[in-house]
Amino acid sequence: MSKFYVTTPIYYINDKPHIGHAYSTIAADVLARYQRQKLGADNVFFAVGIDENSKKTEVSARAANMEIKPYTDLMAKEWQGVWDQLGISYSRFIRTTEPDHEAAVADVVQKIYDKGDIYKGIYEGWYCYKCEEFYREDELVDKKCPVHKSEVEFIKEENYFFKLTKYQDLLKRHIIDHPEFIQPASRRNEVLAFIERGLIDVSVSRANQDWGIRLPFDTSQVMYVWIDALINYLSIIGYPEQKFKDWWPASVQVVGKDIIKFHCIIWPAMLLSAGLDLPKQIVAHGFFTVDGEKISKSTGNAINPLDIVETYGNDALRYYLLTEFSFGGDGNFSHDRLAKVYQSDLGNDLGNLVQRVAKMIVQYLDGKLSDNTAHTHDTTQLESHIGEFHFELALKDIWTRIKGLNQMIDEEKPWVLAKSDMTQLSSVLNHVVADLLQIAELLEPFLPTTATKIQKTFAGPTVDASVGILFPRIEKN
Ligand code: MSP
Repeated sequence: MSKFYVTTPIYYINDKPHIGHAYSTIAADVLARYQRQKLGADNVFFAVGIDENSKKTEVSARAANMEIKPYTDLMAKEWQGVWDQLGISYSRFIRTTEPDHEAAVADVVQKIYDKGDIYKGIYEGWYCYKCEEFYREDELVDKKCPVHKSEVEFIKEENYFFKLTKYQDLLKRHIIDHPEFIQPASRRNEVLAFIERGLIDVSVSRANQDWGIRLPFDTSQVMYVWIDALINYLSIIGYPEQKFKDWWPASVQVVGKDIIKFHCIIWPAMLLSAGLDLPKQIVAHGFFTVDGEKISKSTGNAINPLDIVETYGNDALRYYLLTEFSFGGDGNFSHDRLAKVYQSDLGNDLGNLVQRVAKMIVQYLDGKLSDNTAHTHDTTQLESHIGEFHFELALKDIWTRIKGLNQMIDEEKPWVLAKSDMTQLSSVLNHVVADLLQIAELLEPFLPTTATKIQKTFAGPTVDASVGILFPRIEKN
């Protein structure tokens, strides 16, 4: 039986989750749920977690007037709590301060060291701790971090380096030979162009830092946080114990476009060095802006996904995030658009349909369903959209079917048939129900709560109208 292992980035804990983080996690959740339907729950592993060993953690704890450990515990609760409230179906939530993660990291890094791929050298250059990334002088903008526009730190110290350059050609070959490895193609081209310009070895440790995981072969240094963080994808499935092989190599690693260099260059090179298989696929999605602005802590425009959920519910958040832009491209989060699709797509197209059909069956057919086995219309196209991560197109396909059912009802006019042709009436309503039951199945990965409600309404011998309105009107205040 084939297995499916999907991961999300592990997020920094300098702040609470915002809709950008929720987007990656929901996208991975859709894949996990979809594969569970196909392969069975036991054959799917869905990894999520937090990246605690960053300097940002230390700085944020200090800013909150807390010791690091209680701060990380608090944030772990916060992040896991948000995923729970959003109904994210993760298999494990990992924290990079957990002992089994530290053991896995030590094992991988020691392997790379033993291979002769880590050497001592002098690091001299610019560092932005908010990015946790080194910059060349020519990458800085007005001598500041190109992303955060904040001060960068000049560092000169003795570090350990990973021989990234050694894997340059092998990696390039792999990317060219496996077009599916980096998706979408625009990102693959970006990575290839980056490799083409020539890689440099990466510093993998820091000399004057306390917070972090110590290098196994030189405990005076802590590991560069990215090296530790990437290994979470192995530790979460039990590495170095052999059971990790039940899941590795990962089927799909979902990341945002901001971290493709780490996932598509450094990570595979580390795996090659450690003698481990490469993930089958790394998928990079675009970024959300909020009303046209970059989401950032400093502008204070970060939207808490729970605030959306409180007004609209989980499925509306999922539907909106997944349909607002084409996977791979960027998108804009707008409250107006959210309110609009909530009312039109979810409320009118789907919610009203379910409610109308349930009511008519109760009214005209005593609530009795004569044939409620789900239809099995061809879903090849839908499956190919999901395979290409085009969730917006998959949902569009489902909505075409939903709109078709609304049209059928408008044309068949069951309220007229009720007076003239009971056989046709029953056939029309039962047909719509059987279609809705298949639609519910197709919707489950995207809108799990709604799917369950539709099934509950129509799965029995009689309609269960207790489910009520799927998407109630929101009163504007
Ligand atoms: N800790 C690292 C990842 C380590 S993975 C081994 C990190 N953390 S992060 O908290 O900054 O999260 C970055 C990720 O959050 C992005 O790659 C993306 O998945 C998600 N997003 C953050 N902001 C986003 C948007 N505005 N829009 C969409 N996704 C966004 O980098």
